[in-house]
Amino acid sequence: MTAPAPIPARVPAPVGLLAELTHRCPLQCPYCSNPLELERQASELSTAQWINVLDQAADLGVLQLHLSGGEPTARRDLEQLVAHAAKRQLYSNLITSGYGVTRDRLAALTASGLDHLQISIQDSDPVNADRIAGVPGAHARKVALAGFARALDLALTINAPIHRQNVDNLAAIIEFAVSLGARRVEVAHVQYYGWGLANRAALLPTRQQVVQSIDVVAKARHQYKGVVTFDFVAPDYYAKRPKPCMGGWGRGIINVTPSGKVLPCHAAQSIPALKFDSVTDRPLRDIWANSEAFNAYRGTAWMKEPCRSCEFKEADWGGCRCQALALTGDAANADPMCAKSPSHGEIAKLALVESTAADPPALIYRTPASAAGARSPTG
Ligand code: FES
Repeated sequence: MTAPAPIPARVPAPVGLLAELTHRCPLQCPYCSNPLELERQASELSTAQWINVLDQAADLGVLQLHLSGGEPTARRDLEQLVAHAAKRQLYSNLITSGYGVTRDRLAALTASGLDHLQISIQDSDPVNADRIAGVPGAHARKVALAGFARALDLALTINAPIHRQNVDNLAAIIEFAVSLGARRVEVAHVQYYGWGLANRAALLPTRQQVVQSIDVVAKARHQYKGVVTFDFVAPDYYAKRPKPCMGGWGRGIINVTPSGKVLPCHAAQSIPALKFDSVTDRPLRDIWANSEAFNAYRGTAWMKEPCRSCEFKEADWGGCRCQALALTGDAANADPMCAKSPSHGEIAKLALVESTAADPPALIYRTPASAAGARSPTG
């Protein structure tokens, strides 16, 4: 490796590292944020390589470590990685499907220094939850894991991805999440990248359903004020302003894939013009500060109109690059979720047609086999 170049003053320090430890997962959720092309176990970084990544991240100023996947507990060395994160004073958050995590495993992870647990749920109704996860019995295992977390007094967030096939049950889902002991509940409408984009026509809720979901969350916030914190992520197909995806490209988050590729966001590899460096070839600090991929859409210099002259350009950073590419064909275009985008009207029509279709397509479950047949719509 060559010596890293210094970090230019214009480059902010990263806050969070999303470590995709593996793409292996026992569940098959059709909105998974992983790319359609899943990385194989044989290409995964070794324990020593991940520990080196954690060291580099801590040296770079990262404070929060999100241990993700796939299913991160599929890695047998997870306790070692958690212990090293604790040693480097990284706040560790385990993002898990909850499938296959025993009481003893969670106790071992907690003893290693795990700070926080996040379990995703598919519904409060076990039958629909298992149908969406694609695996019978998954729901019951999540309930059991939440119980283990309560017994260990481990901070717990319940993440509930919301879409057309569970949104009408949102009030019950929130009650269920609270009953599991969550002190933070994320009601996150599915974002349509990767598997979610491939399944958009089956998952996109109607505008009316989104409006109702906002109302349900507002009532829950009032009911549980001071007890439970609620995060709400809207599906931006009905928005007028785009979200500042990842808080802005290359502004705070580093995503490392199982094989060590370093990405500005989990979906960045959908932008074929970009080249992504690996921690096996280049220091993390140098990738963050100086790599082509991180600098491609960092700041505002890359922007075209209408973003370039927009008063909100340093608030939403032009929205989402991956979405701009997927829906307009150019990652440097304004995110079409923005009302100023020339493509915005088409998106509104598309959302109306897909969300109200009488005969939506069957779900494409996230499996290595189905990846070949999954095609993302382009508009
Ligand atoms: Fe890549 Fe939004 S998902 S920039």
